[in-house]
Amino acid sequence: MKGIILAGGSGTRLYPTTLAITKQLLPIYDKPMILYPLSVLMLAGIREILIIVTSRDIERFKYLFGNGELLGIHIDYKIQKEPNGLAEAFILGDEFIGQDSVSLILGDNIFYGQGFKNILNECMELDSKNGGAITFAYPVKDPNRFGVVEFDDDFNVLSLEEKPENPKSNYALTGLYFYDNNVIDIAKSLKPSKRGELEITDVNLTYLKNGKLKTKALGRGFTWLDTGTPESMCEASNFVSTIENRQNYKIACLEEIAYYNGWIDDFILQKSIDKLHKSEYGKYLLDLLKGKNNENK
Ligand code: TTP
Repeated sequence: MKGIILAGGSGTRLYPTTLAITKQLLPIYDKPMILYPLSVLMLAGIREILIIVTSRDIERFKYLFGNGELLGIHIDYKIQKEPNGLAEAFILGDEFIGQDSVSLILGDNIFYGQGFKNILNECMELDSKNGGAITFAYPVKDPNRFGVVEFDDDFNVLSLEEKPENPKSNYALTGLYFYDNNVIDIAKSLKPSKRGELEITDVNLTYLKNGKLKTKALGRGFTWLDTGTPESMCEASNFVSTIENRQNYKIACLEEIAYYNGWIDDFILQKSIDKLHKSEYGKYLLDLLKGKNNENK
């Protein structure tokens, strides 16, 4: 399984903040936004990751992660020239995906909840040839702002509509997707929508038509946030700060995930500590090395 993070786009809802820098590098409480979606792919166990970025920001992302060595993963980068839509990820990522299955996550999505790793592990079993697609549904107050999914009692998808006026359910599709290798051909066959984008909803509708779309519902004990507006960024920062300061566990600490996955050893972890030690994040890594937060494993 390969992983793609879509971290391009224009971030117009965050202007003027994003006139000079992309939103995925802005902080959500104590770390850049992109660490949250990257942590999801790493929790799933994915080690080969493509980050899709704008030409303006590519060097900054490289400065942040390099080739992923300190995280025990391999990171490639690809420029998306224009924000042509989410489904373009599979065209830009064609060579990177090769014959594999692929997970796509949006660079401004945050997922947090007990049991998430197990849910992700189940998705990793998706067969790369004919496994279909897995998406995630989450109950929201304002479904008409999202792709809305309707399903039966066995979570078979009945319908899928993009920003409907009269939503058939209150479940929105989140920005995390798992696809078999057919997704590349499906994306290549799409025509731009009325708003001129290659739509992920059209990819999902193709899987639905072929009887290959599965949805997993994330319940009320789970948190899914997207952070595309000033309010939602602020809410997400408050959420992360509340959890981290109450429990003394960090959300989306990439080195911690890599360490517990056995992808980096003490020597590599120490390199990150040397760089970050003046921050709370760096002190947390030092505690990790000393074994102080082991019960988190
Ligand atoms: P959006 O929030 O839909 O778009 P945006 O980030 O450009 O923001 P705005 O609506 O304020 O202008 O994008 C969701 C995520 O997908 C986000 O991380 C940016 C990314 N994205 C791309 O990388 N390429 C694209 O073509 C699009 C549409 C989005």
